[in-house]
Amino acid sequence: MQKTYIKDLSNHVGEEVSLKGWIFNKRSSGKIKFIILRDGTGLLQCVYFKGNISEEVFNLADRLGQESSIEVKGKVKGEPRAVGGYELDASDLKVIGEAHDYPITPKEHGVEFLMDNRHLWLRSSKQIAIMRIRHRIVKAIRDFFDDRGFTLMDPPILTPAACEGTSTLFETEYFDLGKAYLTQSGQLYAEAGAMALGKVYTFGPTFRAEKSKTRRHLTEFWMVEPEVAFADLNDDMDLAEEFLECIVQTILKEKQEELIALERDTTKLANVKRPLPRISYDEAVEILKRNGIDFQWGNDLGGTDETVISNQFDKPVMVHRYPAEVKAFYMKRDPNNDKLALAVDVLAPEGYGEIIGGSQREDNLEVLQARIKEQNLPQQAFEWYLDLRRYGSVPHAGFGLGLERTVGWICGLEHLRETIPFARMIYRNTP
Ligand code: 4AD
Ligand code: MG
Repeated sequence: MQKTYIKDLSNHVGEEVSLKGWIFNKRSSGKIKFIILRDGTGLLQCVYFKGNISEEVFNLADRLGQESSIEVKGKVKGEPRAVGGYELDASDLKVIGEAHDYPITPKEHGVEFLMDNRHLWLRSSKQIAIMRIRHRIVKAIRDFFDDRGFTLMDPPILTPAACEGTSTLFETEYFDLGKAYLTQSGQLYAEAGAMALGKVYTFGPTFRAEKSKTRRHLTEFWMVEPEVAFADLNDDMDLAEEFLECIVQTILKEKQEELIALERDTTKLANVKRPLPRISYDEAVEILKRNGIDFQWGNDLGGTDETVISNQFDKPVMVHRYPAEVKAFYMKRDPNNDKLALAVDVLAPEGYGEIIGGSQREDNLEVLQARIKEQNLPQQAFEWYLDLRRYGSVPHAGFGLGLERTVGWICGLEHLRETIPFARMIYRNTP
């Protein structure tokens, strides 16, 4: 007897097979019992006829609760009306692990209850679809950079200094060396990598002690950060738009089944093709004013501002040249206007907000030293970073894409908590 998985049933029509999985659901009507089996690759209706199996097996089905683990055997039949298009004419049922009173039932549960039971909630169809899409996005990201000559370079997670401002640092004691901080971004290390290898990307977990409780913030999230030597802000924007097109079009092509399970309206995603609109911060401020928003030039864009701006476009929009004051110390100033940073944020449509933040980096040693001083950053901790400007400095640029924001947008989710297997937020660090 062939052991198989539900996703491979099309190769086994008419054959006897065995499958292992969990009871997703069951019902019975007199002489027939139906068990919907879930094996991590799909769902399968297993049909038990009273006459075809022993009394003992027939009665076993009654006793087993939702999520009991079982082995089933039977003959595969095409059945267009059944979930997945196949059905098992079942001849045997074995218990592997019995379950009773599984906490998550088909009825509606509150979000807090589901998050408390996240380790079990992950078994639900929508959560499985999200995890599959997340996985495919990760692969699309890696393939994109690998195919274009980038080298993956893993930055440290325990670091001696802040990259993205000191207000969101997680700190920890580090033996006799004083404090260490969980990384907010791998960028500074990616810059060292770009000077060694030309084009690199980092991809890993990053941490921000975000004190705000919003649907767009996690305290632990994954970021991918390409960094390119001999590149300016325009090159950076070219790379970002090609990258977004590639990710979205790959998911549309390969993850239809999951997008349908999530009831995602994909018409707006289909628009994500180059070129993406590029507007300056000044133009973004004009848009806000035209829409009756009382916005002060010089402020950073807030979540609502981003939504108003992105609503003017049917694709992600790139906003470039922000006031330097609201951006990080390492960004290069616009040679045409010293008040502006050569920065770009990409805002996703449909109110999903900033998914990419990037910039051309300050490559002049004296200017960078002055910025570090201005911002009261510990000069000593940045000496190694300044060396990159001392020894063969070149124009360079890069960006960071938030994986969870991207998953949330592509899946059409309300909140980031469902985009990562086990979310970490200001009020949650369990399970
Ligand atoms: O704009 P950010 O802070 O940029 C950087 O960290 C740069 N060092 C990147 C670079 O140029 N290499 O963060 C980049 C992206 C944001 O656009 C957003 O998608 C995501 O990271 N992000 C978060 N995602 C979830 N929760 C949070 N608290 C996030 N903070 C940033
Ligand atoms: Mg940002």
